[in-house]
Amino acid sequence: MLNPTQPEHFQIEYLEPLETRKDSKKSWGQDIKEGLSQRPKTIPAKYFYDDQGSQLFEQICELPEYYPTRTEASILRQYAEEIVQITGICELVELGSGSSTKTRLLLDAYHQENEVFKYMPIDVSAGILKESAIQLKQDYNSLQIKGLVGTYEQALTQLKPSAWPARMLFFLGSSIGNFSESDYDNFLNKIAEVLENGDYFLLGIDLQKPKSTLEAAYNDSQGVTAAFNLNMLTHLNNKFEGNFDIDNFKHEAIYNQDKKQIEMYLLSEKEQEISLKKLELKVKLQKGEKILTEISRKFDVEKTKDKLESKQLKNLKVFTDENQWFALILCQVVK
Ligand code: AVI
Repeated sequence: MLNPTQPEHFQIEYLEPLETRKDSKKSWGQDIKEGLSQRPKTIPAKYFYDDQGSQLFEQICELPEYYPTRTEASILRQYAEEIVQITGICELVELGSGSSTKTRLLLDAYHQENEVFKYMPIDVSAGILKESAIQLKQDYNSLQIKGLVGTYEQALTQLKPSAWPARMLFFLGSSIGNFSESDYDNFLNKIAEVLENGDYFLLGIDLQKPKSTLEAAYNDSQGVTAAFNLNMLTHLNNKFEGNFDIDNFKHEAIYNQDKKQIEMYLLSEKEQEISLKKLELKVKLQKGEKILTEISRKFDVEKTKDKLESKQLKNLKVFTDENQWFALILCQVVK
């Protein structure tokens, strides 16, 4: 049992890797093998997030050019109480919680009700999850915390039914923009499946805006986004005994106006052959060849509302900022 009087008390559970589950069809690292055999070569964006990558991402969120974090935070600051009024006290489950900084704006609003409430942050980085859980326990005495270490996929297949009257699952920061169209669709199916009738879903989306603003956000002047992109290769080196030399790669981010998405690449600055020993994989790269590491789709509110409605996620309210740069959509599951 959790004892709210013990400030250090929280639970952390490691989710089972999908690869070891009987229902898993894919073997370890197969996504890397598949990605690097495509044209253009790709590396799944989930490989950004080792502990170093998660820390670099936290730094990105503080950059002057990277408007999404502070814009979403300003929306939360303005509307968190209204969100609490709509949902009432419920179990809060956050996908990709990171340091839970923005989440505090929501927790503050739920905390005012002065009842015990529960927060389940889910993140791939155990380090960041533990650190933030310790801080949160100190700052919110009526908060129960159970952190889950794992990916969204793991969380959505392994999340147990809630003992609380209602649950609000939230996915902030427009991380949904990093999914391909089909992954976006599957993800929303999973959300609707894992939530029960009457539960809530709060989704943060980055909205379409001029190319110059978008490209500046992904090509910051301090080079933090470049370091974040390149760190993916260091992560692969560590995980799969690879020999990527990051000095032979360059960060690139462009806004694809037709697809309404930022595309982040690592450009090979020379002809080279890479090996990932643990995957028994060798990959040749031409000079100038680009590896796609991330897409970040930019949304339209009306289209997103329609999409959510098509997944039994009924729109309750859309919250946005004065420039309409970012939006939070609150929906309720109606099955
Ligand atoms: C996590 N995700 C929403 C970020 C984004 O803006 O797409 C990741 C990121 N990549 C570069 N900068 C930030």
